Amino acid sequence: MIEQTLMLIKPDGVRSNRIGQVISRIEKEGFRICGMKMLRLQPETAAEFYAAHREKPFYADLLTFMVSDRIVALVLEREEAVTRLREVIGATDPAEAAVGTIRKKLASNKQENVVHASDSLSNAQVETSFFFSREELLSMLKKSTMP
Ligand code: CMP
Repeated sequence: MIEQTLMLIKPDGVRSNRIGQVISRIEKEGFRICGMKMLRLQPETAAEFYAAHREKPFYADLLTFMVSDRIVALVLEREEAVTRLREVIGATDPAEAAVGTIRKKLASNKQENVVHASDSLSNAQVETSFFFSREELLSMLKKSTMP
């Protein structure tokens, strides 16, 4: 099934000039970029985005990290996009990530792990709405009028 999912390039990926490398890899894996924007997360938005981790010991540090620089948010589309993107980015901890994954190659540690990808189709919809308005999402569905 064709799905859309959300990917974030986190502050460490932006700071280390890896935006192009991550996007190039994603395109090679057959994802179509439907939407993309660079922004700086507000603390309240970061707290809400990662609310599922509120009780975790790393939550406060995670929020500090996520607002420490700009991020890039992308809506990506392909067959089985949610599962496939999780495979391509690899495990949270780069030490445990499979060889060839983005995190194995680029991540520093469990927190500064370059990218985030939604873990289910329903979360993909919720997470996408943090970054893209209804109008922007509708415009992604419209066919280009350019030749
Ligand atoms: P992400 O896939 O964005 O989802 C939750 C994030 O919390 C995760 O990537 C990491 O950035 C961070 N995280 C998860 N586990 C740990 C941990 N044990 N220590 C520090 N940060 C973590």
